[in-house]
Amino acid sequence: MTLFDVYPLNNITITSAKGSYVWDDSGIQYLDMYGGHAVISIGHTHPHWVKRIEDQLEKIAFYSNSIVIPIQGELAAKLGQLSGKETYQLFLCNSGAEANENALKLASFHNGRKKIISFTKSFHGRTSLAVAVTDNPSVVAPVNQTDNVIFLPFNDEAALKACFAEQGNAISSVIIEGIQGVGGIHIATDTFLKLIRSLCDQYKAVYIADSVQCGYGRTGEFFSHDHAGVNADIYTMAKGMGNGFPVAGILIAPDIQPKHGMLGTTFGGNQLACAAALAVLEVMEAENLIPEAEQNGNYLLERLSQMSDLQNVRGRGLMIGFDVPEELKGLKKKLLSDFKIFTGEAKPNTIRLLPSLAVTRRQIDDFLEALEEAIEEIKEAEKPAHA
Ligand SMILES: Cc1ncc(COP(=O)(O)O)c(C=O)c1O
Repeated sequence: MTLFDVYPLNNITITSAKGSYVWDDSGIQYLDMYGGHAVISIGHTHPHWVKRIEDQLEKIAFYSNSIVIPIQGELAAKLGQLSGKETYQLFLCNSGAEANENALKLASFHNGRKKIISFTKSFHGRTSLAVAVTDNPSVVAPVNQTDNVIFLPFNDEAALKACFAEQGNAISSVIIEGIQGVGGIHIATDTFLKLIRSLCDQYKAVYIADSVQCGYGRTGEFFSHDHAGVNADIYTMAKGMGNGFPVAGILIAPDIQPKHGMLGTTFGGNQLACAAALAVLEVMEAENLIPEAEQNGNYLLERLSQMSDLQNVRGRGLMIGFDVPEELKGLKKKLLSDFKIFTGEAKPNTIRLLPSLAVTRRQIDDFLEALEEAIEEIKEAEKPAHA
């Protein structure tokens, strides 16, 4: 049997990892400024995370949602405490797409409506509704196409107001990333998120904050949407939630009422996943990782902004993007092949940085030094021979 070939791969086999480093099968060390796609939140193989999972594994890994699972309650309490959303309710599932799928569905159950507002360059996942609200026709199959989704320009307040004025009573929900990740690191402005809040209140629509990539402490607030100072009705979470263990969830405002059978999943909220998720929150709290992420992120942002070869340096905390000019287009590849540093990308020419929240100042400096050298080497190699 062969693998279904959907991923363009780097020809590297990673066999071990610790903190912000990973090692390949010949022992070469790489600095991970990509966090395995924003997933590694507290650092690879953090000892507390490993121990929590091992201890849980010895007891019980899985039993279905047909019995009381106290560790789900522990996770809900810890999440409420650290996010400040103590009055919210938690539903656990397995991936970012599933979290968004459930959020959109729950909003529709709640207000009985069908229309969803989403924004240009958004990415919300690949299952049916999640992909339907994703602004990338190449990942939307014919069967996912629906008239229920309205795409509006990102951060365009006039367009949002006009849309609500025209069909506000049909709008079930508005879904938005606090910082667009796949779309290339674009921050939703505070005034735009506030406007979403007030229009959703006025028209009884549900504000869904997709925090799958930008959430969980990465930007200095628990959810990046929190910078706007207003609450969403539903927060969706995945990626960094389990530091690599597959676990996801949605936080649901208290006025949205559950009903038996309304949502459900076989694996969601299993004991092992909850142990991994609890370990992440415990480490974030004990090691003060949220303020650290903000400080280190600000430092990295500032240093990158001073590099004249990079364009449009942007981001918040440890979610950073910059554009690479045409003459440096080999930069990402060079960082990986010659400097052994993983970074992320967004088409067509953005480099995305999504390191673990535990990345150190020293590792950031190592990255910056390598970046400067890589740029110089590319420029040198491109100089005409007679110059
Ligand atoms: C903002 C956002 N939402 C949802 C998803 C989908 O998450 P998953 O791949 O876990 O289904 C992603 C994945 O990149 C994402 O960046």
